[in-house]
Amino acid sequence: MQAINFENVKFSYSDAEENAFALRDVSFSVEEGEFLAILGHNGSGKSTLARLINKLLEPDEGKITVFGMDVSDPKNTFEVRKSVGIVFQNPDNQMVASIVEDDVAFGPENIGVEREEIGRRIDYALDAVGMQAFRHGTPTRLSGGQKQRIAIAGVLAIKPKIIIMDESTAMLDPRGRKEVMDVVLKLNKEEKLTVIMITHFMEEALLADRAIVMNRGEIVMQGAPKEIFSREEDLETYNLTLPAVSAISKALRAGGMDVQATVSLEELAKEIEECVSKRKI
Ligand SMILES: Nc1ncnc2c1ncn2[C@@H]1O[C@H](COP(=O)(O)OP(=O)(O)OP(=O)(O)O)[C@@H](O)[C@H]1O
Ligand SMILES: [Mg+2]
Repeated sequence: MQAINFENVKFSYSDAEENAFALRDVSFSVEEGEFLAILGHNGSGKSTLARLINKLLEPDEGKITVFGMDVSDPKNTFEVRKSVGIVFQNPDNQMVASIVEDDVAFGPENIGVEREEIGRRIDYALDAVGMQAFRHGTPTRLSGGQKQRIAIAGVLAIKPKIIIMDESTAMLDPRGRKEVMDVVLKLNKEEKLTVIMITHFMEEALLADRAIVMNRGEIVMQGAPKEIFSREEDLETYNLTLPAVSAISKALRAGGMDVQATVSLEELAKEIEECVSKRKI
């Protein structure tokens, strides 16, 4: 089933200059269970797109559906908001309570889930992010990665079908980023949660099933991450960096070594080996 569908969506902020659209004419869809990465330089419209999905913003034109529900229909607002959870960038801004379990309970309490069920959901959500041991702890004492896992647990406690990570790893150290990515990948693979990952880290995008690239409010590339990262010139045009392995292979080519563009470290190593052995002969 289609989890999200955008049809010719346009959006401008009310205080923006005339004709300054944050989203120009955006059409795309996401299948249930898919892991989609959204890339694009600063101001390209990624967060605006995310906020339109769960109705924090409403489009000026076009149609958005979430699991077939038209988001512009007020009758669907509650269901749509429940179906789509967003985890934001700053872990400190997302903590609302002074005890971890109260923080996770905040979302379900807000939508009127009954007490016993809330207890079950806290259990499930903390297990899912590997933070059960911190249940009675204080969020402020946690590392950035742990805080983001609590933020994810808070979203999971609402039982969404779609989770949007809006640069949720941007403020984390490499270890925190890995913790969060591992949790997200597990939820995607094991719970079939639909994931939308907005990121500036190309290595994270490589883990997705599909990626879209935004530029000035438009989708300018979409496809398998590997395929997108092989289009080096286009990426340069849209101001994106290459994943580390692609950058190394590009530098080697510039230095006269005949290696193919690749995102896989194993493939690159094999190609270098071949080049070196050919030279020996
Ligand atoms: N609250 C707002 N009011 C007015 N304009 C805004 C607002 N939020 C974003 N914009 C403008 O809308 C456009 C798209 O912004 P958006 O935040 O969606 O980009 P982004 O791709 O998420 O960028 P970043 O990578 O910096 O997070 C930009 O031109 C931005 O300046
Ligand atoms: Mg943003």
